[in-house]
Amino acid sequence: MDVAVIGTGYVGLVSAVCLAHMGHTVAGVDNDVEKLAQLRGGKSPIYEPGLQEDLTLAIGTGRLQFHGDLVAAVGGSTVVFIAVGTPPLPSGASDTRAVATVATAIGAALAGDHQPRLIVNKSTVPVGTGAWVQDLVARSAAAAGAAPPPVTVVSNPEFLREGQALWDSYNPDRIVLGSDDPAALITMEKLYAPLIKRRCRGCDISHPGPIPLIKTDLASAEMIKYAANAFLATKVSFINELARLCDHLGADITLVADGIGLDKRIGRAFLDAGIGWGGSCLPKDVSALVYTANSQGVHSRLLEAVTEINQDQRRLVVRKLQQALPVLQGRTVGLLGLTFKPNTDDLREAPALDIATELIRLGATVKGFDPYWSRQDHWPKSLASIQHCASAMALAKGCDALVVVTEWPEFKLLDWARLGREMHQRLVVDGRNCLDGAALTAAGFRWQGMGRNPPAHESA
Ligand SMILES: NC(=O)c1ccc[n+]([C@@H]2O[C@H](COP(=O)([O-])OP(=O)(O)OC[C@H]3O[C@@H](n4cnc5c(N)ncnc54)[C@H](O)[C@@H]3O)[C@@H](O)[C@H]2O)c1
Repeated sequence: MDVAVIGTGYVGLVSAVCLAHMGHTVAGVDNDVEKLAQLRGGKSPIYEPGLQEDLTLAIGTGRLQFHGDLVAAVGGSTVVFIAVGTPPLPSGASDTRAVATVATAIGAALAGDHQPRLIVNKSTVPVGTGAWVQDLVARSAAAAGAAPPPVTVVSNPEFLREGQALWDSYNPDRIVLGSDDPAALITMEKLYAPLIKRRCRGCDISHPGPIPLIKTDLASAEMIKYAANAFLATKVSFINELARLCDHLGADITLVADGIGLDKRIGRAFLDAGIGWGGSCLPKDVSALVYTANSQGVHSRLLEAVTEINQDQRRLVVRKLQQALPVLQGRTVGLLGLTFKPNTDDLREAPALDIATELIRLGATVKGFDPYWSRQDHWPKSLASIQHCASAMALAKGCDALVVVTEWPEFKLLDWARLGREMHQRLVVDGRNCLDGAALTAAGFRWQGMGRNPPAHESA
């Protein structure tokens, strides 16, 4: 099929590459001139494992092109994906202005056009947005003096995880399609057929059976996305609350998580205690759902608590440092990992930013080493208050404490004995419980995990 993907960020670009590898002809559209120039030059503007290679291959097939001309891309397509950002507003609500801009532009582009088309919302949008997009397209065409174009809106929420976005796109746990028009769902099923049957590059063919397809009405599909992220956030905040208790009681939260995670009704995933969730999805999607609930007169007490617990985890790291040092004024703290999770370059809502701000407010100097950003030729503006270190060894030099903020796999393999010799004091707060605490203790470090300490260590 001929497909347009409007918005070539983390979701749009990965989706465009994946659709091209499914055999479709894809036009990727973005209004960010710099991003577009990089994409046209065949270069991925974001870091995601395997993306550059698959992008190059997709462009090489001739089935993937990028341009800034939305009108041409929409005109030449039967399926138009909207994958623009929906960041949070100060109220917590989702900012859907970019979606509205694109819907209005699509309406204008299709004024007077009689070819049926699908508009697919891949952006995470509040329940009701699909119907709103349908209306915006019709109104925009009407403003150009034309009858509503024959478009049908479909909700196709995205569940990929940054850091493994390509794998998740080729091997989703399920595909959710929502529309109030059954014919639109049939077309979407055809579009995804190569993926559903696992007959596309990147598909895990050792996995038995097709990929489950969930077909719903428009509103239910929109709700599924929020429900999924809210549940994941709840799981993490649940285990973090128990981790705090474990700190007091001398129990080990990792053993507790293993013990409950083997129960099939619970599952082990998303039960790793630590600094908590960040990034561009969970925080904004939980706050948008709380906002929607409030606007419907439903007080979402659970999700408000989930958010509060998550913020507390960032403060807990600072409290652990205060207890161990105990004055932070004049101390030097090194942050290991700055992105919101490993294997991505994404710094949106990264816990490292809050932790650094608080440490600096308390008079500490904050240094940072990130396996992605420390190796680039520029240090992003959002990290300006954090001193750039080119290596973990440079980070450790003169530090009173190191904090593992992001569990990049390479941190386990560091020469910790050497790092310790560079440090002013051998204190490590393992904010992700990803290091071997016993080995570090044996090597002369004071090691503090999250929910893994003997009772005497913690009174936060
Ligand atoms: N990032 C994730 O892990 C993830 C996962 C699932 C769902 N989502 C959802 O997907 C959506 C996109 O997220 P993202 O992380 O890819 O965002 P992003 O900011 O990385 O990408 C959005 C892109 O849209 C472009 N854009 C904005 N307005 C445009 C316009 N008028 N015309 C053309 N292009 C325009 C931007 O330039 C940018 O490249 C959001 O709703 C998000 O909640 C994200």
